[in-house]
Amino acid sequence: IDLQPFNTMTIAAQARYFCSVTSLEQLREALEFARSRQLPILPLGGGSNIVLTADFPGLALHLGMRGVEVDEAGDGVRIRAQAGENWHQLVMRTVDAGFGGLENLALIPGNIGAAPIQNIGAYGVELKDHFEQLTAMEVTTGELVTFTASECAFGYRDSLFKGKAKDRYLICEVVLRLRRDWQPRIEYPALQQHFQAHNTALDTLTPSQVAAAVIDIRNSKLPNPIEIPNTGSFFKNPVVSEAQYTAIKQRHPNVVAYAAGDGWKLAAGWLIDQAGWRGFRRDGVGVHDRQALVLVNPGHRAGQQVVDLARDIAADIQLKFGVTLEPEPRFYP
Ligand code: EPU
Repeated sequence: IDLQPFNTMTIAAQARYFCSVTSLEQLREALEFARSRQLPILPLGGGSNIVLTADFPGLALHLGMRGVEVDEAGDGVRIRAQAGENWHQLVMRTVDAGFGGLENLALIPGNIGAAPIQNIGAYGVELKDHFEQLTAMEVTTGELVTFTASECAFGYRDSLFKGKAKDRYLICEVVLRLRRDWQPRIEYPALQQHFQAHNTALDTLTPSQVAAAVIDIRNSKLPNPIEIPNTGSFFKNPVVSEAQYTAIKQRHPNVVAYAAGDGWKLAAGWLIDQAGWRGFRRDGVGVHDRQALVLVNPGHRAGQQVVDLARDIAADIQLKFGVTLEPEPRFYP
C-alpha cells in the first residue's frame, strides 16, 4: 500500500503490509501478525512527524482508536482520550467547554497517541504541563502498561518513548487533567505582540481568546500541511552552553535565544534564516518562506530529497555557527 496519504510530507513510499485498527483487540491481533512474521512496525497517527526515507519493509499500523471521556475531578476535569483522536479537535472541545490549559497547543497537527512521544509544545506550554498518565500496549507481549508523568521522563521534545523505551510500546490512551483555576500563559513574545497589536484586555482573557491568538499566529507563519506538505519544525531548537552562547552572541548580537537550565536554547529558525536558507527551493523541496525551521515538499518528492536538504542545512549551520542541529521528525525505516 502507498503511504502517501498517511504522511503530511506526502512522500510516496510503499509499506509491505498495512493495517488500520480501531480497538485494542484488533491492535493485539495486528501485533501478533507482525511478531509471527518478524516485521518491523511503523505506527501511523496523523503522519505529521515522520519522514519516509524509503519503502517500509514491515507493517504500517494505523492507530484509529476513538473516544473521549470527560469526568469531573475535584478542582477540574480529567480527560481520557484514545490514541486516534485528533489533537486540535480535542483542544477546541476543551476550550469551547470553557476549560483552559491546552489553548496554547491549538492547531498542532497529529493525533493524541503521538502527543506524549515528543511531548508536544508551543507558545510556552507543553503536553507534560497537563498530563496525568497514559496506557500503552507492549509490542512484544500485547500487554497494557500504564505510565505516570514522571515515568514518561518528559523533556523538551523528548520522552521515554524516544529514549529507553523507543519502539517498545504503542500509546493507546492518554489522560489529561485541566484545572478550574486557570491562568493564561502568555509570556511568549509572539503572543504578547499579538495581544498588543489587537488591543486585547489581558485581565479578562479567556481560553478561547488565547486559542484564537495562537491559531492566528500559527496561520501567519506555519504552512497548512494540507496546502503545502511539511512536518512542522524540522529541527529541534539546539541547547548550547553559556560559553558557546556568549561566543555566538559576540559575532551575532541579534541571535534569538531563551535561557534553558544552565544553557541557552537557540532559535534554530533564526540560525537557518540568518544563513540565507529561508525560501530556498531545490528539486521540489525547500525551506518555508515565512518560517525557516519548516522544510516543505510542494513537489511531493521522495524522502531522500528532503533528507539531503536537511543534511546540507545542518552542515551549513555547523560551519557558520558551530551548532549541531538535530531533526525533530522521526525517519523511517
Ligand atoms: N525566526 C527567524 N526567522 C525564521 C524563523 C524564526 O528569525 O525564519 C525567529 C523568530 O522571529 C523568533 C524566533 O526565531 O524570534 C522563534 O521563532 P518561532 O516563534 O516561530 O518559534 P520556533 O522556536 O521556531 C518553536 C517550536 C514550534 C512552536 C513554536 C512556538 C521547536 C522545534 N519548534 O518554534 O513547534 O510552534 O516554537 O512555541 O521547538 C513543531 O515542533 O513542529 C513546532 C512547530
